[in-house]
Amino acid sequence: MFKEPSGRQYVTTPIYYVNDRPHVGHCYSSTLADVYARFMRFAGHEVLFLTGTDEHAAKVVDAAAAKGLTPLQWADQNAKAFQDTFTWLGLTFDDFVRTTQDRHKSRVLAYLEALRQTPDVYVGEYEGWYDAGQEEYLTESRAKECEFKSPINGKPLVRKRESNSFFRLSGYQKQLEQLLNGQAVDGQMFHVEPEARRNEVLGRLREGLNDVPISRSGANGWGIPFPGSADQTVYVWIDALFNYLSIVDTDERRKFWESGPLHVIAKDILWFHAVIWPAFLLALRKCKGFEWVRLPKMVYCHSFWISEGQKMSKSLGNFIDLETIQRYVATYGNDAWRYYLVTQGPLGATDADFAAAKFHETYSTDLVNTVGNCTSRVTAMINKYFDGAVPGGKSALALPGFEWPRLCEEAVSASSRAMEKFDLYGAVEAAMGLVRKVDAFINATEPFKVAKDPARQDELGAILYQCLEALRIASLLLWPVLPEKMEQFWKAIKQNVPREGGLMELARWGGLSPGKKVDKVALYPRIELPRVEAAV
Ligand code: MSP
Repeated sequence: MFKEPSGRQYVTTPIYYVNDRPHVGHCYSSTLADVYARFMRFAGHEVLFLTGTDEHAAKVVDAAAAKGLTPLQWADQNAKAFQDTFTWLGLTFDDFVRTTQDRHKSRVLAYLEALRQTPDVYVGEYEGWYDAGQEEYLTESRAKECEFKSPINGKPLVRKRESNSFFRLSGYQKQLEQLLNGQAVDGQMFHVEPEARRNEVLGRLREGLNDVPISRSGANGWGIPFPGSADQTVYVWIDALFNYLSIVDTDERRKFWESGPLHVIAKDILWFHAVIWPAFLLALRKCKGFEWVRLPKMVYCHSFWISEGQKMSKSLGNFIDLETIQRYVATYGNDAWRYYLVTQGPLGATDADFAAAKFHETYSTDLVNTVGNCTSRVTAMINKYFDGAVPGGKSALALPGFEWPRLCEEAVSASSRAMEKFDLYGAVEAAMGLVRKVDAFINATEPFKVAKDPARQDELGAILYQCLEALRIASLLLWPVLPEKMEQFWKAIKQNVPREGGLMELARWGGLSPGKKVDKVALYPRIELPRVEAAV
């Protein structure tokens, strides 16, 4: 039987640049983390889910000036837009970090002070190809490969020379290769998923590593002052990466770091998370007072959404922006939005196309015709034939191929195993498989025919009990992705479900008590395509 897992889960998203408005890409990463966090809380873990904004980029100074605002006023406005959007989408983040907060800045200073005392940090000259949009230097070979244009926004790279503090990344080459090859370093493992992304990093690692600048000049005082150099600030990427650590670096929260964070990111920032970040942590771990700092448990790197077959770009004006997201949610509901992101999104190593027709089809096939139809059929039959009272018949009628207690147990463990690997799609599919199986069971047993024979009342009761019980168990597994409608379903079948802990116990076969009155439900209204096209 299932074991109730216990433990801690610390899940993070990238912190988003405040210069952008929230769009589907940001909402995607944060929604994935939300599904994971909800599942883990439900399964009894103590969870910390962190998202937030990255505010010290140089472009914030320019954008603010253009609006006649101070950088902080501009950052305040945009950080609020992210926070409001994520709240409106029902994301259950436990904390929202802003890199302009003192709690973050003071810890970053402590980390750099400690690192500065080690041979891993030195002052030197740097000249290289600079991607101003990303605030990132590219190696000579990578710059050549990208034809001296930014691989992210296509703008020309700039030749730049600076005197900075550097981090000796080159000294970590061997350890990083070892880690990415699945070997422990310093007694610790580090996983980059999916496999294709891990191989990509390994390939680039073999080309050799440059040391990285960690201080910057000329930011007009916007940023964290670099310790020991009055006119410099901390390089925005180093400042940003440290958010994951700074926010849990308190007596109450350090336990979350010790349990090993899971960083959800996308392919654009893989190098920072899979190479620079673990090297920094290995370096910090050697410093006095920071021996507790361990490597992240996993970096999960998803791919990109494109839009109707094309890369999303400002010039094409095809961003799935906040207004578009609002229209989808207004038309189909928030659960449908979440379901589409999680099941049709770029979770693996290939990009996914955001297309109105695909959204509609997914909604109609999976939510209207499968989850909606099945829950409505079963609750309607219980109302029609048993006056709404859950019939008895827990163990009766074991039809070959429909051994429900076993099927449900398998779905619950498949879903949990998938979730642990951050295979969110697999976790949802395990639950959807159960719902489809209930449909097949109804087709095989034909309860509407059985109902015509009064001598077969027990058989009818057994069929419908099994249908509703399997749906109840499926609904528990679907809740992290479909919270609104599954809660509506629980209300209709009179189930009082706690959201923190209890999943494994609740998901045992036989939890549904005969005699309880259930209401008919209609969870997902059918939506006609013409109306949708007009709306989205
Ligand atoms: N501030 C840095 C991250 C620092 S993390 C320590 C940054 N910010 S960002 O605003 O550009 O956000 C990048 C992230 O947004 C991606 O890694 C991804 O999570 C999400 N996405 C942005 N565009 C995306 C798509 N088109 N598709 C999917 N997700 C994408 O980089």
